[in-house]
Amino acid sequence: SCGPRRVLRHNPTSMRVFSGIQPTGDKHLGNLIGGFRQYARTQEEGEAFFCIVDLHSITVDYDPQDLHDRTLDLYAMLLATGLDPERSTVFAQSHVTAHAEAAWLLSAVTSYGQLGRMTQFKDKSEQREFVSAGLFTYPVLMAGDILLYQTDVVPIGDDQRQHLELARDVAARFNARFGETFVVPEAVYPEVGARIMDLQEPTRKMSTTGGTAQGTVRLLDEPDAIRKKFRSAVTDSGREVRRGDDKPGVSNLIDILSVATGRTPEAIEADYDGAGYGQFKADVGEAVVELVAPVQARYAELRADEGELLRLLARGAEKARVAAAPTLAAMYERMGFVRA
Ligand code: TYM
Repeated sequence: SCGPRRVLRHNPTSMRVFSGIQPTGDKHLGNLIGGFRQYARTQEEGEAFFCIVDLHSITVDYDPQDLHDRTLDLYAMLLATGLDPERSTVFAQSHVTAHAEAAWLLSAVTSYGQLGRMTQFKDKSEQREFVSAGLFTYPVLMAGDILLYQTDVVPIGDDQRQHLELARDVAARFNARFGETFVVPEAVYPEVGARIMDLQEPTRKMSTTGGTAQGTVRLLDEPDAIRKKFRSAVTDSGREVRRGDDKPGVSNLIDILSVATGRTPEAIEADYDGAGYGQFKADVGEAVVELVAPVQARYAELRADEGELLRLLARGAEKARVAAAPTLAAMYERMGFVRA
């Protein structure tokens, strides 16, 4: 429907893009492929919003100084990987209070049962003794992030699929209960590399919180550390460089090489026909070193000017507040709150 688009956006014809990324935890190759690279690409396709979701980062144990520093680290990384703060709105979630408000309002139309079925909640709550209420309601905050901007498309990796489904359900339930208010968003995943796996345990996703240290390639790793991680990547007892459900390690490396070089997985399989794993793994490592080298150089430059980062963040927050305000106001009104 174009109902909410017409009323709640200043430019109803352009495509709205929104995505979020957590500041805590080292950013890794999975984030680059499922996140950063998609952000830079989708910002060319419409009116885009990219949010450092600092409010999400307090749902598990964290250090306040670390949250502070990593918020600025992540902002520099978003620019280093290609976001243009003139073209896109890049901001911190806590700077726009509408996000916290929307989460509370949307909790009225979020199912308790559905939240309990979120695999991320189940995984993360099993791993720790203290399980915060925020870890449980986390997807409601995420739904609000997306819905406040009348978002059409959400570039994400495969691990966020279930959360996106919940956001769509929440939007539809609100629209049915209180009248057409939200665009129901669609996810977009990278064609190759939607789920980058841990190099040591290729049946689980690469992650700085849930993966192995040696199997996680950090974007700020030194070139030699990256080469070493790929040289020791776990494959299988065969010697064929091809994708298959029985070959999670090799499939993952093919995907990574495909993303890093722009060659198709099929072309890579043909190139390495009969070559064995040694050279293949070394080549993947080298390609990743080349992929991240320019990012690391730009990052170091940008991170050095903290004053400029803060100035740009403040500008991003202003733009985001203006964009979110009409939708938040409509939510309050339609839910029956007195507006004085
Ligand atoms: P986060 O911070 O864990 O991850 C940021 C992005 O990186 C993707 N990603 C991966 N992609 C491929 N392979 C992997 N191994 C891998 N690991 C992470 C994620 O899918 C994500 O796109 N809940 C979100 C943040 C969020 C959000 C939002 C996203 C909050 N509000 C609104 C979109 C829209 C998260 O924790 O992502």
